[in-house]
Amino acid sequence: MANRFFTVCCSIQLFLPLLLIIVTSSVAKIAPKCRDTDMNCAVWVASNSSDCENVELVNSHCQRMCQLCGEPIDPKYDVKLLPEKLKSIAWMVGRWRSEFGGKAFFPTIPKFTYGEQVDITIADHSENGRPLLNYTAFAWDINMPDGDPTEIHSENGYIAVDFDKEQEIEYVSLNTAMSNGFMTIEEGESGPNQVKFRLQRIGRISFSHDSAVRIMFREWTLLDESRLEARLLMTTTVTRRLMEHTAIIYKKIYP
Ligand SMILES: *[C@@H]1O[C@H](CO)[C@@H](O)[C@H](O)[C@H]1NC(C)=O
Ligand SMILES: *[C@@H]1O[C@H](CO)[C@@H](O)[C@H](O)[C@H]1NC(C)=O
Repeated sequence: MANRFFTVCCSIQLFLPLLLIIVTSSVAKIAPKCRDTDMNCAVWVASNSSDCENVELVNSHCQRMCQLCGEPIDPKYDVKLLPEKLKSIAWMVGRWRSEFGGKAFFPTIPKFTYGEQVDITIADHSENGRPLLNYTAFAWDINMPDGDPTEIHSENGYIAVDFDKEQEIEYVSLNTAMSNGFMTIEEGESGPNQVKFRLQRIGRISFSHDSAVRIMFREWTLLDESRLEARLLMTTTVTRRLMEHTAIIYKKIYP
């Protein structure tokens, strides 16, 4: 009898702390991280922010975009404030940074890897009432020691959307000024979580080191709620056939 009592008492003593460990670790696992769990959140929240309260799907999957958790979002990145015309490209808004090196193939130099940060924000002004996103990108040499990011390329510009009522197609434009002496006008159709720009016009300073570009496609694809892929394909005066020039996957670092 005493023996049996001992077994019961002491296995409880052993069991309780173990139970606590199990309970606390599963609580830690369940404790929700402040992030979105659906790649459509940006567009949903931009389309109708009251869905954050009224639509269960949006409420449960878009905690971060809805600002139901975490720090308040900087208004420049807050898709709830996105002008109506830009809502279809709400998925672009954010600060994106490569986690691993992007790959670059240039016709004139050996291939190399690079890091890049892209910032797409709601611009604080518009052109003739046409709202804009502000685009900046900064690429560095990944093979340099940490803390000394040597800039290898940067570009700045604006993204706009135009709706063609007759064709019922939405066009997205990107115009850039680049540190290599290029300026580009790129346009493409907006698709769900993807846009493929085709180079329309290019300007280039006469003493630029880069070879003249003939055809260029820039493809941005949202892969999931936190990753964006960018690819650049081009033909130049040196390489006549269409080649993948750069390919990189960014992780969303804000919001
Ligand atoms: C936004 O969604 C709410 C329900 O969440 C709905 O009542 C309202 O009409 C919607 N607004 C627009 C502009 O679609
Ligand atoms: C565009 O974004 C950059 C980087 O975030 C910022 O320095 C600049 O002031 C912005 N310009 C506009 C017009 O929003």
